[in-house]
Amino acid sequence: AGGGAALSAGALSAGGLDHAGDGGGGEAFATPLAIPPLAEGRVAGGVRSFRLEARSGLTELVPGVRFRTMGYNGTFLGPTLRAARGERVRVAVSNGLTLPTTAHWHGMCLPAAQDGTPHQPISRGRTWTAEWTIDQPAATLWYHPHPHGQTEGQVVRGLAGLFLVEEAPGGAGSAGLPSEYGVDDVPLILQDVAVASGGRAEGGRVQAPVGRLGNTVLVNGTHQAHFSASTPLVRLRVLNASSARCYNLGLKGGGRLWLVGTDGGLVPEPAALERVLLSPGERAEVLVELASGTDVVLRSFAHDLGMATGDERLGGARDEFDLLRISAPAGAPAGAEVPASLPAPEAAALMAAGLAVGTTVRTFDLGGRSINGAVLAMDRIDLAVPAGAVELWRVANGSDRAHNFHVHGVQFLVRPAAGDHDGAGITARLGWKDTVLVRPGESVDLVVPFGKHADADVPYMYHCHLLWHEDQGMMGQFTVVEPGTGAAAPAPPAAAP
Ligand code: C2O
Ligand code: CU
Repeated sequence: AGGGAALSAGALSAGGLDHAGDGGGGEAFATPLAIPPLAEGRVAGGVRSFRLEARSGLTELVPGVRFRTMGYNGTFLGPTLRAARGERVRVAVSNGLTLPTTAHWHGMCLPAAQDGTPHQPISRGRTWTAEWTIDQPAATLWYHPHPHGQTEGQVVRGLAGLFLVEEAPGGAGSAGLPSEYGVDDVPLILQDVAVASGGRAEGGRVQAPVGRLGNTVLVNGTHQAHFSASTPLVRLRVLNASSARCYNLGLKGGGRLWLVGTDGGLVPEPAALERVLLSPGERAEVLVELASGTDVVLRSFAHDLGMATGDERLGGARDEFDLLRISAPAGAPAGAEVPASLPAPEAAALMAAGLAVGTTVRTFDLGGRSINGAVLAMDRIDLAVPAGAVELWRVANGSDRAHNFHVHGVQFLVRPAAGDHDGAGITARLGWKDTVLVRPGESVDLVVPFGKHADADVPYMYHCHLLWHEDQGMMGQFTVVEPGTGAAAPAPPAAAP
């Protein structure tokens, strides 16, 4: 496992904060993009083992501004863990913080007792070990703490890392996609931090009603980052690890992003989109084609979700700002092409099969900070699902704010609905998802296949992934139980109006 050295901000060039709004392209985005170190663990006795230690420290995230930060094996963010489908993995997580933490494997389909929720706390100075067999398609997953009521403060300080699942060890079976980590397969972890005027790091300000919004965006902890590509086709694996900010990704000055993957794996075929909207917790894998000698700028464009800060350092009320400048290789030889199709047949088959008559339908009403009128109670199981069931979960946002909805231990499909904006590139809801944005007044239908690991005692969570909402208890708990056991048939939640 690597340390966090590559993320240290020592190499940051001097520069003002006021370029983020319109960027200007040119010289502002000149700091080399930090790449989280790749950790492939050690294989012994048929198990691939990793070690993580949560630590705190001080990191100069913005030139001249030091922040109190947290990281895994370093002071900010964590290594990118990589393992393959079918492998047995073990991760020992030590808590070197002064607070309790947990380590949650977001998007992983694993037994609830290994999931790293508030039910598996790691107290200060202790080590918790999770172990499971990876049984899901190649995907860009991630890990972060999930302590009861304390998640936002730990994630926004830097406790977040990627967990890449591959089809086979060593990157075989990458479906013709760029797959050289850090070279043409590039992780982008998006977070926003707050810098007060006068250049001080600003810590805990919560901006109700959404949570913490910064005024400065970092990519892998790099402010105004630049990536110098060496190939004409680059795959970006983008994670929104912010508390509340949504990113509406696109290329400045036009051009398409080829969406090839979402939260839980590849989409059936690359989709050329002008915009890819990511709410907190969501991931997208996109291909960017580079023409020789030309720079492209990845930008977050205005959207209608009402999260603009009005801070001119983030584009003012329009909430538009540049994220990353990518320069093309000089005189690049014609190289890899965007593949015409991708191997994701399971999703399509389930979508066709999963809506059979008799499917259990459950409804989840998202209120201001509650789900079905309730906030989290750690000792209350809200529902029990039979192992191996495929259910239809209808998530309705009756509030006047955007929320999203994340389910642990599964990957689901979002059933397309009339009025979806995919044609206009507004949503990236194709393929396997574990987190979905739900706009005010919107209702989405999720086809959810549950795992086979029954455990009536240890729940999984479902919740809004705006981290402050999560901490406020906009979360519920479910167990996966043996089919036919009494616990599998609780009273259904109240129907949506
Ligand atoms: Cu990414 Cu319940 O969390
Ligand atoms: Cu919410």
